[in-house]
Amino acid sequence: MSFEVDGKLFSQEPRAGQCLRTLLRELGHFGVKKGCDAGDCGACTVLLDGEPVHSCLIPAFRAEGHAITTIEGFGRDGGPHPMQRAFLDAQGFQCGFCTAGMILTCASLNQAQRADLGAALKGNICRCTGYRSIEDALLGRINVEESVEAGAAFGRSLPAPAGPDIVHGSARYTFDTEIDGLLHIKLLRSPHPHAKIVAIDKAEALNVPGVHAVLTHEDAPSILFSTARHEKDWMDPEDTLIVDDVVRFVGQKVAAVVAETEGAAEEACRRLRVDYEILPALIDPEQAMAPGAPIIHPDRTTENRVADAQRNLVAETHGEFGDVAAALATSAATFEATFHSHRVQHAALETHGGLAWLDVEGVLNVRTSTQVPFLTRRALSDIFGLPMDKVRVFCERVGGGFGGKQEMFVEDILALAALKTGRPVKLELTREEQFIATSTRHPMRVRIKAGADADGKLTALQLDVLSNTGAYGNHAGPVMFHALAESISVYNCPNKKVDGVAVYTNTVPAGAFRGYGLPQALIAVEAAIDELAKRLGISPYDMRRRNIVKPGDPMLAPPPSEYHDVLYGSYGLDQCLDLVERAMRADGPPPELPPEWLIGDGIALTMIDTVPPAGHIADAMISLRDDGGFDLTVGTAEFGNGTSTVHRQIAATTLATTVDRVRLRQSDTAHGGHDTGAYGSAGIFVAGKATHAAAMQLAVELKSAAAGAWLCDVETCVLDEDSVVSGVRRMSFVELAKLARERGQPFAASGNSGGTPRSVGFNVQGFRVAVNKATGELKILRSVHAADAGVVANPMQCRGQVEGGVAQALGAALYEEMVIDAEGHVTNPKFRDYHLPTFADIPRTEVFFAETSDTIGPLGAKSMSESPYNPVAAALGNAIADATGIRFTAPPFKPDRLFPALLDKFGDSDGTR
Ligand code: FES
Ligand code: FES
Repeated sequence: MSFEVDGKLFSQEPRAGQCLRTLLRELGHFGVKKGCDAGDCGACTVLLDGEPVHSCLIPAFRAEGHAITTIEGFGRDGGPHPMQRAFLDAQGFQCGFCTAGMILTCASLNQAQRADLGAALKGNICRCTGYRSIEDALLGRINVEESVEAGAAFGRSLPAPAGPDIVHGSARYTFDTEIDGLLHIKLLRSPHPHAKIVAIDKAEALNVPGVHAVLTHEDAPSILFSTARHEKDWMDPEDTLIVDDVVRFVGQKVAAVVAETEGAAEEACRRLRVDYEILPALIDPEQAMAPGAPIIHPDRTTENRVADAQRNLVAETHGEFGDVAAALATSAATFEATFHSHRVQHAALETHGGLAWLDVEGVLNVRTSTQVPFLTRRALSDIFGLPMDKVRVFCERVGGGFGGKQEMFVEDILALAALKTGRPVKLELTREEQFIATSTRHPMRVRIKAGADADGKLTALQLDVLSNTGAYGNHAGPVMFHALAESISVYNCPNKKVDGVAVYTNTVPAGAFRGYGLPQALIAVEAAIDELAKRLGISPYDMRRRNIVKPGDPMLAPPPSEYHDVLYGSYGLDQCLDLVERAMRADGPPPELPPEWLIGDGIALTMIDTVPPAGHIADAMISLRDDGGFDLTVGTAEFGNGTSTVHRQIAATTLATTVDRVRLRQSDTAHGGHDTGAYGSAGIFVAGKATHAAAMQLAVELKSAAAGAWLCDVETCVLDEDSVVSGVRRMSFVELAKLARERGQPFAASGNSGGTPRSVGFNVQGFRVAVNKATGELKILRSVHAADAGVVANPMQCRGQVEGGVAQALGAALYEEMVIDAEGHVTNPKFRDYHLPTFADIPRTEVFFAETSDTIGPLGAKSMSESPYNPVAAALGNAIADATGIRFTAPPFKPDRLFPALLDKFGDSDGTR
């Protein structure tokens, strides 16, 4: 068949059943992305004869005689298309995985469609931005500052260096490459929640033409590990094998088929015969702890860092200071309730996956979608017994992470397949696999008891948490500890008690997810603060002001922490409360709503340590180039978190140059050094600090060299506009580079950060909602967020992180929910059924920043990509309670969840109840 792509004629026959998306990618049009392959996300959007279509839904043969435009051919002749320019000006992207499709759809809108963007953009999902910067692009807003003088980059809204590549579709993600001789991996997954594999008959599968290997538990090393990646291995239990002979959740891998084509691998998976011995399964976490419950990991012990395998306990914690029971008995007001948080998914648009091959030097290369290349290399080295220098793990641009890629879900099987076959291999998870076989947020049951005296001073805070970690314990302990820490240590209270257990169940494992346990706990804690305030007749703002920690106050949660390195490097919680209160009280147009709509306000606050405890390490290296610019190497990955922009800003500011003169290499273990990873918001606070240290050291060396040449005191030298200056003398960086060549010693420096001491960041979220008491429908009338990010490194990007975090949390609070049936199956493993929020679902959030400067963070900055998520569901719950007088305790706050209680309280609209 003949067809045109980006003005070029092609003559090619598609395979039977092939869709246009895969055909275009096979022709090298990597700007056409896969987010779902089901018509739900729009990442694969192309123009077919000028009309936007989801290419994953179009049979390839339909392209016959048609003209297709991909993002790479869009606006080619006269430079960028105006919409590409508009996305650059507004920076309407973060990870950029959705951007090609989004731009093509936006550019096709007519005036009528532009008047109803919610409907017009319903087919294009963005998981990162919260859609406001996309709306800005459509409105022609310019959010970037393009030209900033040398040495002044930090604190300015500079654009992402990858922006031009992103809007033109030339940014390269994990699978945007061609490798000769590539084999494809498909995984057979368990249909049972708990079973022993008695036998696997591979014969028929191996007879499928093109199949090279079928890998089962017999082929994999029996080395236990955790998929969770932390700097210290002791944070997670050793309970996982690459391929196990016991399956503990529906979706666990049973076998991997490696074949010439995906089709052959899928066919071979279908022909594998597995003999299972079914074991009793536990779906409910409460039952997991009951006496006599089936044991999910009977062979694990505390040596494997499982707290009590015979009771299905992965981790537990208990502690008290003061006397909570006595304090509650004498409090002027008390509150007690049980909250249930649900299971939600990261839903990064780029699914997990990677490529692996052995190079000519025998080095195992793994190109993967990860937040933790260095820790993944370490794990692969341990499991396969390879020296560290024989394993290279790296990532190109990553299409979203949100904590979900702080795991090793695919690299292990990729490595096994590459080592066994000696051929390059590829594994790209489907969207369904992403739902059923990667990780989710930990569902938690949180019981809270709280008390306050008549002046509104807290007298008692007690949390009892049951966390469901699913079939494996990756992140189980740290998430639970985190949930029980900052959620209550942000409040002064003389009596505090916590009990926490994380239990195994035969369900899809939970793992790291933005906020890391705090969002679940805050729903209960912040509800308690509001309810006590209500009972005492105190405003929610003042109630918090009377109780929050202030600089100098100890930040305490029982049991006593072994880490004492969290300091008040800066403090802006008071400002955040003021900013939200002022904005929420500011006059706005009164909502024009019929009387059945009930209006209410709610707020919630959060504190977060700026770095995870127990070590987070980053190295940075910087050198002067011959052209007077700098090469900066860091280990941290870019997945929409904006660190590639901020690292250059830090270096450029410290070295008195402009960001365009700082070239960045990142996220590749082959570059040397170490980086724990881009999680826990450490990309700026830890890795940025390493960059700052390296740049400062290089600045010293440049000044010393100039002083040596001038025979002057180095103290008289300063850096200024790409030069060293002393009085009237000036030596440019180009001249210094020449000097370095002459002396045969280049200018280079390295910096390191160990992630300690740590500081604290703060966020306050406010909502005004309207709830229809007759239907349970909910509208967000106002969303206000204040963040204390220290000196804001890049206000535009930081605002984007807040908008994106609020949007993602709103999705979880209002719509998203993974449903698991009694047999352990995820019943809605599709975007469509899971309900990811689209443009129409997300309100514009007013974002404010406290004015603080951190004494620990680089150039005064603190982290701000994780914590905006944390207070959202809590604030929403408080607003709904304020509007309706009903305390809902189990998000998502969907109409069908709200309706029964509203009916009970307010009766039918026709008055029959
Ligand atoms: S990949 Fe085609 S719509 Fe998601
Ligand atoms: S920028 Fe839209 S999905 Fe990441």
